[in-house]
Amino acid sequence: MKPILIPMKKMNFTKVFILILPTMLIACGNPAGNTAQQAKADSTQVEPYRPGLGEFMMGIQVHHAKIWFAGKNQNWPLADFEVGEIKETLEDVKKYCTDRPEIKSLPILYPALDSVNAAIKTKDPTRFKKSFVLLTNSCNNCHQTTHHEFNVIKIPDTPPYTNQEFKAR
Ligand code: HEC
Repeated sequence: MKPILIPMKKMNFTKVFILILPTMLIACGNPAGNTAQQAKADSTQVEPYRPGLGEFMMGIQVHHAKIWFAGKNQNWPLADFEVGEIKETLEDVKKYCTDRPEIKSLPILYPALDSVNAAIKTKDPTRFKKSFVLLTNSCNNCHQTTHHEFNVIKIPDTPPYTNQEFKAR
């Protein structure tokens, strides 16, 4: 197959999105499994990019840390936004990581997310801290359940990025 070459300056964002869409629609892979299938795909075409569960988890890790610094600064709109980002990522995990049996344990996280949401609504710092501890413990509960107990999540000491303001305006 001849590769389709489109001059970069002529590609707007929508075109780029349409081009990468098929790769986004493919479920994340289990590196150990489907090797025969993969070899067949490799011989005919360039293997599309597949985000793995670990990559989604690294996104969740960042949002987890941001929730903490937003809440600590009583920046409730930002904290609320970051909880929403975790929820969206969990939806993506359910959609794209269907080959991972661990995802049946995702509901471990829901009560804690609800609790953080409720604390944010009441703008109560004490309640927020308690709910964040519950959230962090729930991450670890799932890691233990899914035999990834070596991935230990804790309350962060410093913000994940220095180029973002966590204080409320
Ligand atoms: C379904 C249960 C489950 C829940 C809930 C869960 N995790 Fe995970 N997490 C996993 C599994 C399974 C892995 C290993 C993924 C892999 O194979 O790459 C993982 C891996 C990770 C990693 C390591 C990623 C890497 O490649 O370095 C981090 C960080 C992480 N999780 C953070 C979190 C945080 C933070 C939370 C809570 C907000 C959380 N996880 C909730 C199951 C879960």
